[in-house]
Amino acid sequence: MQPIISIRGLNKRYESGFHALKNVDLDIADGDIFALLGPNGAGKTTLISVICGIVNPSDGEVRVDGHDIISDYRGARERIGLVPQELTTDAFETVWATVSFSRGLFGKPKNPAHIEKVLKDLSLWDKRNDMLMTLSGGMKRRVMIAKALSHEPKILFLDEPTAGVDVELRRSMWEVVRSLREHGVTIILTTHYLEEAEQMADRIGVINAGEIILVEDKNELMSKLGEKRLTLQLEDTIERVPDTLARHELDLVDNGNALLYTYNANDKRTGINSLFRDLDSAGIRLRDVDTKQSSLEEIFVDLVKTPTPESTSGAQATAKDNA
Ligand SMILES: Nc1ncnc2c1ncn2[C@@H]1O[C@H](COP(=O)(O)OP(=O)(O)OP(=O)(O)O)[C@@H](O)[C@H]1O
Ligand SMILES: [Mg+2]
Repeated sequence: MQPIISIRGLNKRYESGFHALKNVDLDIADGDIFALLGPNGAGKTTLISVICGIVNPSDGEVRVDGHDIISDYRGARERIGLVPQELTTDAFETVWATVSFSRGLFGKPKNPAHIEKVLKDLSLWDKRNDMLMTLSGGMKRRVMIAKALSHEPKILFLDEPTAGVDVELRRSMWEVVRSLREHGVTIILTTHYLEEAEQMADRIGVINAGEIILVEDKNELMSKLGEKRLTLQLEDTIERVPDTLARHELDLVDNGNALLYTYNANDKRTGINSLFRDLDSAGIRLRDVDTKQSSLEEIFVDLVKTPTPESTSGAQATAKDNA
């Protein structure tokens, strides 16, 4: 299927010379919730800003539903709704006025029925005649979403939608996002929170220092996160792993003083029980054991360090698949 957003060889160098996006290739499928995950300064807002036409790319190509963001700026832009990271609202306007006005900015004819629906979907209907300055932070954020949806975009960008939002509101935002997806809107959100990506996303892209280092199906990524390492400190040094233990795929480390076993804690059978039985039969005595969960960060580090065929960026793999 044709991706709704397609990015090839995108680079952004700011005037300061800072290289904020490095050869980004990325496809986002129509109807997906895509979470862009990355630390502060990774380039999330820059990437979104380029797609939305707010920041000029240095080179590369971006297409939004087939429309080039530069040669067909209007075609691309009218398909997009953006809720920026920094909230800006006109304090003295009413909810209804600000949302209706936003629609007008896109040259769309008035459609009170649509505005009404958006406000109802976002539980803002009761507040429609209230001044923005009288709303709570969470309500203001929902007004920003209503504004972004006022011109019926196919794609909604949410830059850190739940930063500084309490747990309850965060959950209600997730509900809003899911219901938008059910209405066919493609959603791209940025977040620092792995939990948020886990709850919301169909696919997760990880960006670090301007590079997309991984794009993967959420479920696959989460199963990788279940990966654990069991370190077995040995009483006596061994030279090699005994053949009777071959099926456990152990690594001998620490100059023969420790064995390393990798397993997935989410699996029904981790193989730990049979491993211990076989160690005992092999006469290997343990001094200590230790388990460690691989964090998302470690997964990133591994991916960056040792590019294997399947990990040389899912982004490129999808790029080829869709070429
Ligand atoms: N106008 C600019 N001029 C120069 N450098 C910039 C500019 N805007 C952003 N940068 C730099 O580009 C990098 C990426 O910034 P960006 O805002 O895209 O990160 P981010 O992933 O959105 O971070 P955060 O999670 O903090 O929102 C940062 O190092 C930032 O300092
Ligand atoms: Mg940002």
